[in-house]
Amino acid sequence: MKKRILTGDRPTGGLHLGHYIGSLQNRVKLQNEYDQYIMIADVQALTDNFDNPNKITQHVVEVAKDYLSIGIDPSQTTILVQSQIPEIAELTVYYLNLVTLGRLERNPTVKSEIQQKGYSDAIPVGFFCYPVSQAADITIFQAEFVPVGDDQLPMIEQTNEIVRRFNRIYNRNALKECKAILSHTSRLIGIDGKSKASKSLANAIALSDTPEEIKQKVFQMYTDPNHIKVSDPGCVEGNVVFTYLDAFHPNKEEVKSLKDDYRRGGVGDRVIKNILNDSLQLLLEPIRLAREQFDSNLVKEILQNGTQKARERAQETMEIVRTAIGLTYF
Ligand code: TRP
Repeated sequence: MKKRILTGDRPTGGLHLGHYIGSLQNRVKLQNEYDQYIMIADVQALTDNFDNPNKITQHVVEVAKDYLSIGIDPSQTTILVQSQIPEIAELTVYYLNLVTLGRLERNPTVKSEIQQKGYSDAIPVGFFCYPVSQAADITIFQAEFVPVGDDQLPMIEQTNEIVRRFNRIYNRNALKECKAILSHTSRLIGIDGKSKASKSLANAIALSDTPEEIKQKVFQMYTDPNHIKVSDPGCVEGNVVFTYLDAFHPNKEEVKSLKDDYRRGGVGDRVIKNILNDSLQLLLEPIRLAREQFDSNLVKEILQNGTQKARERAQETMEIVRTAIGLTYF
């Protein structure tokens, strides 16, 4: 029996190269070893987009296409849509009793998101409580491992606190704790060189971008503002083109000698951008072609089947949860 793992993404936009190196590539490997569940977390995405639901709902199928086109295999990985499993919401309600306001306030991920979003004097309660909902996501499928970036570690910690509290109060054998499988790749920088690649900041190269869009974005990339003439010595550190070459160029030796030349003042930005563009086109072309094979109806069917299967797992867990609490009247 393969051990179960669960990860998720908020469908706020199509997935991009940052997701690709940070988690997607890894998921393709993990699906051979583990019983992998991937959640499209539309309910969680609504917690900070409740006033713009279209933005979320229209991307559910797009995100699923991203998964399928990079090699997530629906016969090995269960892809599910969070909102279509109401048992997760039910479990969240029981978990809310086990968490204090103070504990939620101390969650560092939520803390920084509150700042980023400018919520500090009017925090929507649904948003504030999403770590509790995420604890329900993880435990309802009885996932043993959760592959995530380090920003999600506070969520895992909070999940396990809830599990221990639940078990202590209701039944010590009811729920299982989970462990993180940490992704060690650091977050990919955006093409502006200012912040992490992110769809909402429009500084990311999406997996579904056209060849023209890719090229355009590569040629917009932040390089070294002091590298004006080809013969000027250039800076490689903080130069987005080199960050991407490090991440995506298949030949490390070639990148190294290109860096040496650039530092010396031997190559212009056009040259390095063309090289990067070539390697990104090579990487993304097969993904784009694979994507064309998945029409929306097929993808919806895959989502429906995955969600159905996942819902059965969720219902099994809810039997355990209701029995543990004593909610078994008829
Ligand atoms: N919070 C995660 C993110 O923002 C998405 C997510 C929702 C998730 N539910 C999850 C991740 C369960 C892992 C497990 O990326």
